[in-house]
Amino acid sequence: MSKLLDGEKLVLGTCYYPEHWPEDMWENDLRRMLENGIEVIRIAEFAWSKTEPVEGHFTFDFFDRFLDLCDWHGMKVIFGTPTATPPAWLTEKYPEVLNANIEGIPYRHGARRHYNYNSLVYQTLSARIVRVLAEHYAKRECIIGWQIDNELNCEREWFYSEADSAAFRIYLRDRYETLDKLNEAWGTVFWNQTYTAWDEIHVPRKTISNSTNPHEVLDYIRFISASARQFCKMQSDILKQYIKPGDFITTNGMFANLDNHQMTAESLDFYTYDSYPNFAYCLDAYRDDPRDLKDRRWSRNLTEVRSISKRFGIMEQQSGANGWNTRMEAPTPRPGQMTLWTMQSIAHGADYVSYFRWRTSTIGTEIYWHGILDYSGRENRRIAELRQIHAALAKMQELAGSRYEAKVGLVKDYDNMFDARVDKWHERIDWASETAIFSACQRTHTPLDYVYLDHTTPEEMAGYSVLFYPHPALMNAERAELLRRYVEQGGTLVLGCRSAYKDMNGRCVMDNLPGLLSDLTQADVTEYSFIAPDAGRVVIDWNGTELEASIFTDLVDAVGSGRLEGTYASDYYAGSGALVSNRVGDGTVYYYGTAFSEQAARVFLEKLGVAEPCKEAILVPESCELAIRTNGWNHYLFVLNYLNKPAAVQLRRTMVNLSTGEEISGRVEIPGYGTLVLKI
Ligand code: GAL
Repeated sequence: MSKLLDGEKLVLGTCYYPEHWPEDMWENDLRRMLENGIEVIRIAEFAWSKTEPVEGHFTFDFFDRFLDLCDWHGMKVIFGTPTATPPAWLTEKYPEVLNANIEGIPYRHGARRHYNYNSLVYQTLSARIVRVLAEHYAKRECIIGWQIDNELNCEREWFYSEADSAAFRIYLRDRYETLDKLNEAWGTVFWNQTYTAWDEIHVPRKTISNSTNPHEVLDYIRFISASARQFCKMQSDILKQYIKPGDFITTNGMFANLDNHQMTAESLDFYTYDSYPNFAYCLDAYRDDPRDLKDRRWSRNLTEVRSISKRFGIMEQQSGANGWNTRMEAPTPRPGQMTLWTMQSIAHGADYVSYFRWRTSTIGTEIYWHGILDYSGRENRRIAELRQIHAALAKMQELAGSRYEAKVGLVKDYDNMFDARVDKWHERIDWASETAIFSACQRTHTPLDYVYLDHTTPEEMAGYSVLFYPHPALMNAERAELLRRYVEQGGTLVLGCRSAYKDMNGRCVMDNLPGLLSDLTQADVTEYSFIAPDAGRVVIDWNGTELEASIFTDLVDAVGSGRLEGTYASDYYAGSGALVSNRVGDGTVYYYGTAFSEQAARVFLEKLGVAEPCKEAILVPESCELAIRTNGWNHYLFVLNYLNKPAAVQLRRTMVNLSTGEEISGRVEIPGYGTLVLKI
C-alpha cells in the first residue's frame, strides 16, 4: 500500500510553488499549513528551469533547500515532473518539439503544454530531466509520491506537428500492416482519397470543407491517446527505477482524447482529478436555468474518475475564485461551498483532497485563480473554513477506504466516445442521453457508476442490476457477446437508438439494424430520422406510461421472441414501434428507439425498480444529492445540499450522524451548502 489513499485516513493537502515566493517565506508557510490541517503538498510540476537552467547543467540546491525544510517539519511531498512547461532554451533550440495548430503553425513559448508527445528530442530531454530529478530526490524522506507532467491533453488535445505525422504513420503501419488494408478500413475510395505510399498520410490538415475522412480522424484520436499514454509510461518506467518502496506514481486530469483507464492501468498507482465546480458559475458558461445542476454536475466527473481508478484523490480542489487575466471569471466560493465541494469529492470516494493552491499567485496569467490565501497571506475566511473541514474530517476518519456503491451503471467505451467527437450525429445523442441519465439518477437519488466496457470484468458487470448503454454506435462481436452474457446472467440492459450501426472503423454496416445486436434485442429498425424541428413534442406510450422522446427516432419492430412494449404516439410515425424488450436467460434487454430525455430515464429507473434505493431509510429532496459509500459492513449516506438555503430530510430509521456521533431519526435540517453524513 502506498503512503496516501492507504484506506487508513482521509488526508488534506495543497499545491505549493516554492519558486513563486521568497525563500524566507517557506518555513512559515509550511508551519502554517501543518497547523491548519494540511499534511501533503504537491510541488515542482512547472519548475524545469530550477533544476536545468541551461541545457545539460543540473542544479539541485533550490529544491534541496526546500525539501530540507519539509523533512524537518514533517511535511509530506508529491513531486511533479516538469514536462508540461519546457524551458525557453529548449523550445528555442529545438522548435520541432512544439505542438502546432491544424494549419501547422507552432504554438510558441509563453504558456504551457505547447509541446508534442512524439518529438524524439522532447522525449529524450524529458526522459533525462525525469531521471535526473528521480535520481537526486526520490530517496528523500518527505517525498511520498510523484505526479507525472500536469494535466495531459489539457489546453490542447489535438496535435498537428511534423513529429506527429511521422509517428502517426508508424502507428498506422502497426495497425494495418498494408496500405490496402488501411485504404479499405478508411474507405478511401470515397472522394478519391486512396493512398499509394505511407508518406502521403498526415495527421489531419486544413481542408477546403473543414472535414477530413471520419475513419481517419477516429484513428487519429486513438493515436493521440496512445501518444499521451506512451509519454506517461516513459516517465513512469523511469520513476519506478528510483522511487522508495511504497511511494506512488500518479497524474492529474481528466482530459479528452485520452484513454485514462488504460493509462492508469499501465503507468499509475492511482489517478487524481482536478475539481473546479465553480466553473458552473463562470461568467462565460453560466446558465441561469433552474434545471441546470450547476456545481452538482461535478459529481459526474467524479463518477468518471472513480471508474478510472477505484482508489483516487483530488490533486486540485477549488478553494477560491477562478480567473486568468485573459479568460474566466467565477466568484469566490461562498461560505460553506469549499466544504461542500470537498465533501462532494469525499462522497464519491476520494480519501485525499488537495486544495489549489496555498496562496494566490501575484504573477503570471493566473493572478485571479485564487487559492486558500490571498496575495497578502493574511488570515481569511477560506483558511478558517479549511480548519473547520479538517476538524470535521477528524470525526469521519472511519470513512477512509470505503467505496461508492451503485447498482445502476452507464456503459461507455472509448471507441464510441472518440467516434462521437468525429461524428456530429453521434455526439448529439450521446451527450443528451448521458446528461439525461445522470440528471435522472441525481434527482431520484439513484447512485450511478460509469462502467467502461473494456475495463470491467464480467463479474464486475454482473454486480449492476441495470446497465444503460445509450448509443453504442460502434459494435463488434466480442462486445455483443459480453452484453449477451450480462443479460443471460440476470442483468437488465437498456440500449438506445442508433445502436450498432457502425463497425469499429466507424463505417456504417449494411445489415438490418441494430446490426450485431439484432439477435440479442430481437428488434428490427425499419426507418430512422432526426426528429424534425417542427415535429413538436414526440411521445411514446409504454403500456400506458408516457415517455418523452429526444432528438432521434428509430422505428422499431419486435421480431422472434421480442415484445413490443411501447409505440410512438406522435407525428407520422404514430403507432410505430418505439420500445422492444427481449428476455434472454435470466435477464432482459430493451431496445429504446430514441435518445433519453431526463423524464424517460426517470421512467426507466422507476419501472425497472432501481430508483431511489434508500427510500425505505431516508427521504431526500430533489435539490440534494445522495451518495453512498460502504466498507462492506457499514453504509455511509452522504446528503449534499447544493443550495444556499436549508433542506430537510426525513430519516425513517435511526442512524448515526457521523459528525456528532449521535443517533438521530425523523426530520433533520441541513443548512445551506451543508452535508449530512449518516452511518447505517
Ligand atoms: C488546473 C491546472 C493548474 C492551474 C489551475 C487553474 O487545470 O492543473 O496548474 O492552472 O488549473 O487554472
